[in-house]
Amino acid sequence: MTDSTRRTFLTAGALTAASYNRVLGANDRIGVGFLGFGLIGKQHVFDFKKFDDVDLIGMCDTYQPRLEQGLQYMGNPRAKGYSDFRRMYEDKDIQAVVVATPDHWHALHTIMACAAGKDVYVEKPMTLFIDEGKWMVQAARKFNRIVTVGTQRRHGRGVHEARKVIESGTLGKVHSVRLASYRNIHPGFGRSAPGDPPPGLDYDLWLGPAPKRPYQAHRAIYHFRWFWDYSGGQMTNLGAHLIDQVMWIMNVKGPSVVHSTGGRFALEDDGETPDLQDALFVFPGFTLTFSIREANALRGDPAARGQAYLGTKGSLILSGGYEVLPEMKIDPVNDIPPFQGHPAGGPVRSDTKPEPWIAPSKGGVASDARYGTGGEDTMAMNERDWLDCIRTRKRPFCEVEDGHRVAVACNLANMSLRLGRSIRWDPEKETVIGDREAAALCVRPYRAPWDAVLRSLVKV
Ligand SMILES: NC(=O)c1ccc[n+]([C@@H]2O[C@H](COP(=O)([O-])OP(=O)(O)OC[C@H]3O[C@@H](n4cnc5c(N)ncnc54)[C@H](O)[C@@H]3O)[C@@H](O)[C@H]2O)c1
Repeated sequence: MTDSTRRTFLTAGALTAASYNRVLGANDRIGVGFLGFGLIGKQHVFDFKKFDDVDLIGMCDTYQPRLEQGLQYMGNPRAKGYSDFRRMYEDKDIQAVVVATPDHWHALHTIMACAAGKDVYVEKPMTLFIDEGKWMVQAARKFNRIVTVGTQRRHGRGVHEARKVIESGTLGKVHSVRLASYRNIHPGFGRSAPGDPPPGLDYDLWLGPAPKRPYQAHRAIYHFRWFWDYSGGQMTNLGAHLIDQVMWIMNVKGPSVVHSTGGRFALEDDGETPDLQDALFVFPGFTLTFSIREANALRGDPAARGQAYLGTKGSLILSGGYEVLPEMKIDPVNDIPPFQGHPAGGPVRSDTKPEPWIAPSKGGVASDARYGTGGEDTMAMNERDWLDCIRTRKRPFCEVEDGHRVAVACNLANMSLRLGRSIRWDPEKETVIGDREAAALCVRPYRAPWDAVLRSLVKV
């Protein structure tokens, strides 16, 4: 972007932002544009076609074959295609955009859309590094925009019922939560050699703010997820969904300590992010452990998937639907191994019979544990909530600030993994405590000209 094009964009954006600060009438249709027609971008188009109060009028992708497919898939002859999102943002008929581009673009696409007066649905993980989330919240507030993040699983009925069960105190004191996401994709996705980008891909615009690197197929379509320049691996990819549910159910702002270890141990491909990672998060009043395996699904063990909330009186297992498993009330002395009995002065066993602390129960809607799909369409719920909030100007259920906080937790885990030590975090001040090297990892440089664009729109 040259200085003059940036000025043009910004001037147009400022005017547009002002003109959209109005409440839509009940009969007004919402003009929506889509950024990124990939795995999830296509799903969004599929979903939005079913809403009868929107017009699908813009499609943007840096890869021409996908742009053409996307336009065709939208099925609206009046829709326009854009290979450069800045041109799409200039279209004042587009009031709202769905950002389904790779993670390294989420922040800037959102901030620039807010500045151009568009409301935004941005995919998870919301950010690549911590400060991006602060900038996105700042932009949403400064330009008065409705920004939703794509952590749709939070809408699940099981999630809402689980929160009520935990709030009611039924499980006693919930002191720990255990998350696991195991699968087996051994030996991995193979290797891709550096070479020329495929015809029709604007690789420089695909890279955007990320560092310049020679093109390699795995560094682009879909597989960008396994490279640090563009993503945080499964910790942010799946963690964004799972940790979001935990943080919402347990009603917490953020962890105070995070420790993580792992690495690329088993897969024989060119990915960089861990194929095995364990993380421990200390939240107020409870700990969270999150275990990721890419080369063993621990078949037969339900604990390899889903979430477990462990209380003093029972556990709640959540995997779409939920189940409450009672703990047994026992006399603690009866839990001491009997062997030949204690000699004089030792604890004395009692005749108290074990009995369950609470009654078992079940609820929610059964669905696939890892993808949270099957029983209910949480993505459509999230999309609908966003559209409703565009009309009412109320904050959506998966709001930008929520997405930021969850991304902070995930990003702290990756920072700990890469530094090889625990990180202490102040969730109120949103700062790393007592570790300059870790604090420096909260921000990464954007490649020119995107660094200047960013600085012109938000306080960095
Ligand atoms: N909410 C969910 O359940 C869910 C599921 C899958 C993926 N996602 C998220 O969606 C995002 C995209 O993932 P994907 O699997 O669809 O990736 P993908 O690679 O299949 O698609 C991304 C598309 O964005 C395009 N693109 C890249 N830079 C662009 C730019 N500057 N302007 C316009 N288009 C650009 C690419 O050409 C590509 O077609 C990721 O952040 C991922 O985490 C969310």
